[in-house]
Amino acid sequence: MIEVKKVSKIFTHAQKEIYALNDVSFQLSSGDSLAICGGSGAGKSTLLNLIGGLDQPSSGQVIINGKDTGAFKEKEEAQFRNENLGFVFQFHHLLQDFSIEENIMMPLLIKGTSKKQAKESAQTILNQVSLEKMYDRFPRELSGGEQQRAAIARAIVHKPKLLLADEPTGNLDDENAHHVFELLCELNHDLRATLIMVTHSQTYAKKLNHIIELNAGVVANYH
Ligand SMILES: Nc1ncnc2c1ncn2[C@@H]1O[C@H](COP(=O)(O)OP(=O)(O)OP(=O)(O)O)[C@@H](O)[C@H]1O
Ligand SMILES: [Mg+2]
Repeated sequence: MIEVKKVSKIFTHAQKEIYALNDVSFQLSSGDSLAICGGSGAGKSTLLNLIGGLDQPSSGQVIINGKDTGAFKEKEEAQFRNENLGFVFQFHHLLQDFSIEENIMMPLLIKGTSKKQAKESAQTILNQVSLEKMYDRFPRELSGGEQQRAAIARAIVHKPKLLLADEPTGNLDDENAHHVFELLCELNHDLRATLIMVTHSQTYAKKLNHIIELNAGVVANYH
């Protein structure tokens, strides 16, 4: 279960305070799915980053399975992330000096999976995102959409319990977007992974159990 309790995030820029999030609260059960919607600058990525522990709230708490993520010790946090979290970033963040296959094997190797097993799993997932022929290329040798799919493959290869995706279908054509969305939903349905996805697509948002609409850092609607 995820509890977001009275979370605010204030950025300071040129001595001015920017409320990226203002008193946001909601709960989500394990295995549930949530779409985060709202215009550009509404606070969607900020909220996702806080849930994923990539950033800390200015006030309030993010509690995951009863644990306040703000109180995590460094080692505990790293372990939590490696074992439970899959993050698809808005800008894909592939490691440039590693091949696509190596990028995808990384979360498994960090978890202690054998190299042979990691390679096999990477192959399977590359097939699922139709990148099996690109395994030995470097990220810069792929198109934006292909990099996006590789990033998604990397985020789901270790079958995380919590899957956070920031506009995962943003750079993709309709067919690939549909395919990627189906993959994320499969993990959600079959493995009971909690799925939280930022999206501008009402079609996809409506297919998830809950929708949060953010407006200037405030929850305008939650159902
Ligand atoms: N490091 C930062 N310093 C100052 N302001 C920031 C910082 N990061 C984000 N912001 C501001 O916080 C607000 C929310 O940003 P956020 O990235 O969460 O928006 P978003 O909803 O994800 O938008 P988009 O759809 O364009 O990705 C914006 O006004 C943004 O300018
Ligand atoms: Mg964003």
